[in-house]
Amino acid sequence: MAVRNIVKMGDEVLRKKCRPVDKIEKRLHVLLDDMADTMYAADGVGLAAPQVGILRRVVVIDVGDGLLELINPEIVGTEGEIVGVEGCLSIPGRRCTVKRPEKVTVRAKDRKGREFTVEGTGLLARALCHEIDHLDGVLYVDKMIEDVTEKYETGEEG
Ligand code: NI
Repeated sequence: MAVRNIVKMGDEVLRKKCRPVDKIEKRLHVLLDDMADTMYAADGVGLAAPQVGILRRVVVIDVGDGLLELINPEIVGTEGEIVGVEGCLSIPGRRCTVKRPEKVTVRAKDRKGREFTVEGTGLLARALCHEIDHLDGVLYVDKMIEDVTEKYETGEEG
């Protein structure tokens, strides 16, 4: 387990589309462990593999309810819309408002390759959307409504 360096905006790795994981292997488990360590060390609520320079569809999230590991996650349903404040570990010090679904349903695989579905509302829904966007090279600032950095000095980052 190790804390990896978090790639910052401006690095083109954050703008690439990630490839799906096709094999569950030791290297994937090391990546998941390192991503969790890196997220917790940075006080984040989520982290996507391209943020540690790996172009694979892998995400970790913990909004305070325990660690969620998602391999090849896909949004399969959304409900409602809500505007909220976001930050990103790859864009330190900034906060912007973004419109996201109020509720999302995501299908993914766990570290053993078993398919599961997770439903999220509130911060979890926001984190799921934010991290899955990272896998397609999309950053939350691409979708920002307003820059509110001066109003919110702290907050969740993914
Ligand atoms: Ni982010």
